[in-house]
Amino acid sequence: MDAALPEALRAAIDRRLEGRERSGLAQRALALSEGYRGGRASSALVKGEADALAYALTRTPATYAAVRRALSEVRALRPAFAPSRLLDAGAGPGGGGWAAIDALPGLSSVCRLDHSPAFLDLAEALAADGPASLAGAARLRADLADPGLALPEADLVLAAYTLTEIPPAILSGVVERLWSATRGLLLVVEPGSPEGWRRGLEIRSRLVGIGARLVGPCPHAGPCPVESPDWCHFAQRLPRSRDHRIAKGGAAPFEDEKFFWLAFERPGQGAADPAPARIIAPPRQGKPGIQFRLCRPDGTVSETLVPRRDRAAFARARRKGWGDALDPAGDQ
Ligand SMILES: C[S@@+](CC[C@H](N)C(=O)[O-])C[C@H]1O[C@@H](n2cnc3c(N)ncnc32)[C@H](O)[C@@H]1O
Repeated sequence: MDAALPEALRAAIDRRLEGRERSGLAQRALALSEGYRGGRASSALVKGEADALAYALTRTPATYAAVRRALSEVRALRPAFAPSRLLDAGAGPGGGGWAAIDALPGLSSVCRLDHSPAFLDLAEALAADGPASLAGAARLRADLADPGLALPEADLVLAAYTLTEIPPAILSGVVERLWSATRGLLLVVEPGSPEGWRRGLEIRSRLVGIGARLVGPCPHAGPCPVESPDWCHFAQRLPRSRDHRIAKGGAAPFEDEKFFWLAFERPGQGAADPAPARIIAPPRQGKPGIQFRLCRPDGTVSETLVPRRDRAAFARARRKGWGDALDPAGDQ
């Protein structure tokens, strides 16, 4: 899986940056990241085109990489899933749609929903020379918090870094609305913070309670065995472009995006395969072998050592990383 932005999207962002003063963008990018870290919503931070562009420059590469990675895990769990309609709820500059098309090229119809005209305008401009389904995507300016909102149905509904901006008191209503629009699979991606994980668990229990079937990353739908102050999350490494580095004020040519994801499907699409265990921490390689922290289908978390002397299993285990599935029977 390639976590880097598709060339067409990177080039479209670069074209929008032409002639812009980099220090102004860096200031906006800093204000955005401080604002998001402080728990403020996009509506308070993104006031117009320049803020939306600063988001596309500094956040879209990371949110793209997280969505792309989550979809690659979903594909591994549900290889037959072949959606044609995407609803990108809280689309922002549209990076999630690009990730979805990259992972699931059969998507032929895309609807971007957002309450921010600045984000919707930028998403359209960035996709103008992109794949046909993105260039011709439907635009829906709407407020997910509106209880009377009728969402268009889709085979894949995506809420990437969106539910983090929904006030807790109305979260379950918004989640139910997204679920009622879902014909195939609902993918929620959240920041990989303790709050993102806690919100994910709330979403998980709400959806499982109304009959959604959990696809992943958890290998079971019972109570989460991870205990605070620990929290479940994953990381995806992605490259930083030169402008991205300048805007972030850092020298490293890459960054690691911490994220958490949850996917749900409508039951009645046949029995689900038994879920594999999931690696929930960076594997540790030592003399005796590779140590994995696994969340297991029986609802427990435990450490497993794949010994170096078991050469075939060790060779397979070396290719496994944080966030991957590890089938204790097949992978070891
Ligand atoms: C942090 S951004 C994420 C954007 C994009 N999904 C991504 O992954 O980069 C959150 C997005 O959700 C949108 N949003 C937040 N609350 C919303 C609401 N109540 N109705 C519609 N859109 C909303 C914001 O305008 C913003 O575009």
